[in-house]
Amino acid sequence: MSDLYIKQLNVRFSGTPQPALSIPDLMIRSGLQVAVTGASGSGKTTLVNAISGLERCGRGQVFWDGIDIGAYSESKLDRWRAANVGLVMQDFHLYPGLSALDNVLLPAKFYHWRLPAQLKIKGKDLLARLGIENNRTSIDLLSRGEKQRVAIARALLKSPPVIIADEPTASLDADNGMQVIQLLTRLASESKSTLICITHDLRLSKAMRRHILLDAGRPVQDLTAGKLL
Ligand SMILES: Nc1ncnc2c1ncn2[C@@H]1O[C@H](COP(=O)(O)OP(=O)(O)O)[C@@H](O)[C@H]1O
Ligand SMILES: [Mg+2]
Repeated sequence: MSDLYIKQLNVRFSGTPQPALSIPDLMIRSGLQVAVTGASGSGKTTLVNAISGLERCGRGQVFWDGIDIGAYSESKLDRWRAANVGLVMQDFHLYPGLSALDNVLLPAKFYHWRLPAQLKIKGKDLLARLGIENNRTSIDLLSRGEKQRVAIARALLKSPPVIIADEPTASLDADNGMQVIQLLTRLASESKSTLICITHDLRLSKAMRRHILLDAGRPVQDLTAGKLL
């Protein structure tokens, strides 16, 4: 279960007259696969930061399964995110100097005194399915597209109930993009995870059940399987 409910959310950065994000009321049901689209600067990354609790700069509330994550302490929020959210950030946040596999496993290592063997196997399997042939290669030697896929493998490692991906196909060529779309949707379905993809990629948004369009921080269109909500 991981229903998302956003209530009266308003994020405004200092020095800007208009809010970067303004969402009166939005519900995303557990297990749904949702695309969020919108022009550059329309608030997509701000939304990722708000719903994953990475930024607290707004007013309003973000509930996951009825719990307002804004009420969590910083450390509780970190624990909640680590246990529940697989995040693929726009700039990947990978650790330089480590191999692809170690990057995938590192966050899990913080939470396990001894990494379960099955997580290691899963990490290798995910990288192979994402076309990273040599998982021992240092991350520094990988292309941007390969780094993107390592970041995706890391987010999916623990089959989190919530997967949030900011432009997960942006650095990929058509074939690799399609592979990532198929893997994201399949793995999210298998684990019944709520999948929220920020994207400009029409193929990715078409693969999602629901499509929310942001304009200047506001949701202006909301379609489920082609029907206006
Ligand atoms: N840390 C910040 N400080 C000031 N303004 C910001 C900050 N982050 C984002 N913004 C502004 O908020 C708006 C939305 O940004 P963002 O969410 O990154 O858009 P998108 O991801 O859709 O391109 C933009 O106008 C951007 O310039
Ligand atoms: Mg962005």
